[in-house]
Amino acid sequence: MNQQTAVTQPNAAKKHLPDAQTVTEVRHYTDRLFYFRTTRPQSLRFRSGEFVMIGLPGEDGKPIMRAYSIASPSWDDGLDFYSIKVQDGPLTSRLQHIKEGDEIILRPKPVGTLVLDALLPGKRLWFLATGTGIAPFASLMRDPETYEQYDEVIMMHTCREVAELEFGRQLIESLPEDPLIGEFVGDKLKYYPTTTREESKWMGRVTDNLASGKVFADLGLEGTQMDPATDRAMVCGSLDFNKDVMAIMEGWGLREGANSEPAEYVVEKAFVG
Ligand code: A2P
Repeated sequence: MNQQTAVTQPNAAKKHLPDAQTVTEVRHYTDRLFYFRTTRPQSLRFRSGEFVMIGLPGEDGKPIMRAYSIASPSWDDGLDFYSIKVQDGPLTSRLQHIKEGDEIILRPKPVGTLVLDALLPGKRLWFLATGTGIAPFASLMRDPETYEQYDEVIMMHTCREVAELEFGRQLIESLPEDPLIGEFVGDKLKYYPTTTREESKWMGRVTDNLASGKVFADLGLEGTQMDPATDRAMVCGSLDFNKDVMAIMEGWGLREGANSEPAEYVVEKAFVG
C-alpha cells in the first residue's frame, strides 16, 4: 500500500521509443474489448481516476496518441488499461494487436476530473459507467481512500451483452479476497451490472434503473433517489450517457464539481476511438 513502492522496468535497456513503456500482459475479452498492462515510469505519480495519453508511432513516425484512463490504482507498480477495438480506428486498429514485450508510448502527465478531491465529503459514492467507462473505476475501486472516505460504494456498469461485463466482474469479485485492498473493501462495495441487449440477472440502462429507483430496491439501499447531502457520484461513459445521467442527478439537486470547486458529482467521457 506504500505509495513509494519500487517500480520495475524489466526492459528498460531495450527502449527505443521516447516515453516508451513495455507491455507486460494482454487479455482479450471480446472481439471489441481488451485489457493490457504496461510497466510504469518511475516518475509517474497520479491520483486514482486520472487519465494519460498513450499511443503508438504512426506510419509517418508521428505518434498517434489518445486519452486512456489508468485502470490500476496509484499504489500499483504497473499500469492497467482497458480498451475498445475499433477496426478502422487510427490507434486501436493497431493497438489491439500488441503483445507482451512490445512497447507503447506513454506521456507521463496524468490529468482528469474523476478524482475523490473533486467531491465534497459524503457517505455514499456512486460509480456510473457504460462500456470501457469502467476503466477509471477499476482504479478507484482499488484505492483505500475510496473506502476511508465513504461508508458505501456502488458500482453500476451497463453493457449491451454479458461478455462485455466480464473485465469488471472478475476484478470486483476478486476484491474482497485481495491481500492488499480486501480489508478496506470489506462489504462496502456493491456491484450492479446490467445488460440491455442480452438476458442477465439485472437488465436495463443505468439511467432507467436510477430514475425508477430499481437499483435502490434491488440492492436494498436506503432511499429511492440520491440525496445531495450524502450521495456523491462519478460518471464515465458516452457523451449521451453522461448527459442523461447528469440530467437525472441535477433533478435531484446534485451539482457538478471540479478539482478547483468540489461539489456532488463529476463526469468524464470514456475513450471512444
Ligand atoms: P442500449 O443497448 O439500450 O443502447 P454502447 O455499446 O452503444 O456504447 O452502449 C453501451 C451501453 O450503454 C448499452 O447498454 C447502452 O444501452 C447504454 N447506453 C447507451 N446510451 C445511453 C444513454 N444515453 N443513457 C443510458 N444508457 C445508454
